[in-house]
Amino acid sequence: MKIYVTRMIPEPAIAMLKAQGYEVAVSGKDGVLSKEELIAELKKAPYDAVLSLLTDKIDADVFDAVPSAKIFANFAVGYNNIDTEAATARGVTITNTPEVLTNTVAEHAFALMMGIAHRVVEGDAYTRAGKFKSWEPMLLLGTDLSGKTLGILGAGRIGSRVAHHGARGFGMKVVYHDVKENPTLGAEYGARYAATPEEVLKEADFVSIHVPLLPATTHLINAERLKTMKKTAYLVNTSRGPVIDEAALVAALREGWIAGAALDVFEHEPDLAPGLKELPNVILTPHIASATLETRMEMANLAAKNIIEFLEGREAPNKIAI
Ligand code: GLV
Repeated sequence: MKIYVTRMIPEPAIAMLKAQGYEVAVSGKDGVLSKEELIAELKKAPYDAVLSLLTDKIDADVFDAVPSAKIFANFAVGYNNIDTEAATARGVTITNTPEVLTNTVAEHAFALMMGIAHRVVEGDAYTRAGKFKSWEPMLLLGTDLSGKTLGILGAGRIGSRVAHHGARGFGMKVVYHDVKENPTLGAEYGARYAATPEEVLKEADFVSIHVPLLPATTHLINAERLKTMKKTAYLVNTSRGPVIDEAALVAALREGWIAGAALDVFEHEPDLAPGLKELPNVILTPHIASATLETRMEMANLAAKNIIEFLEGREAPNKIAI
């Protein structure tokens, strides 16, 4: 069996595939393969499986370049980079890497929330710049998370974990919206289900986004909705960039419609909307919410496991049901 891996991933996963006796080819490019490069690579051998990343756009042309590959294992929980309809039409199985990154992403959402509320990045820059002359009663005043209202958009695995940390760790009141109610959130954390995103945006002091990227969630946060938020509220996004209209967010941050934002994902990665990086009331991280050593190892291993199970004739454990 031959496996193609579109970029170097943690070594133990490659070792797992090799231990099965599979031949593993890893892209030698230090960067994302363009679609043309990926297609050229995939045409080099009759690969049986492809381990892809969220930065690879996998569509009909890519599937047709390697008709022998009946599984594409995505090294990510999100799979908006893959045309699942084109996969289904060709009988190609798609898998993702859920659960292993839930805690890590929820932690990063809190790193961002605490970072923006306690002005950690501004404080770091201030200190490094030699501006710290003495303790000051009014220096870099932030705001507490404790006792505030946490609004969650998307109450799946990660959103639920964020609700847990908010309620249990910081005594936050939790209000959430999803297409349907998640009764566990009410039962465990006293969270209130809101029938619309507007209700969450109106009430929350911190809004954390955990929806998948779908046509229905693209620009879920637009100018109109940003205007429904409290002027003192903060917006945190660790899901997918296009969920927020980034140009509208720049206007909101510049004109004080909201107090601040902390973003791990961007509408046109790796580019940033004009004006975003000049703003003091935003924290930017480079799509690293799942990037701990432990978690990236587990994600790689899970992607490899999905390939192995599938190629050995068993059900891939994280097959995406469309
Ligand atoms: C990362 O963004 C992922 O979807 O796993």
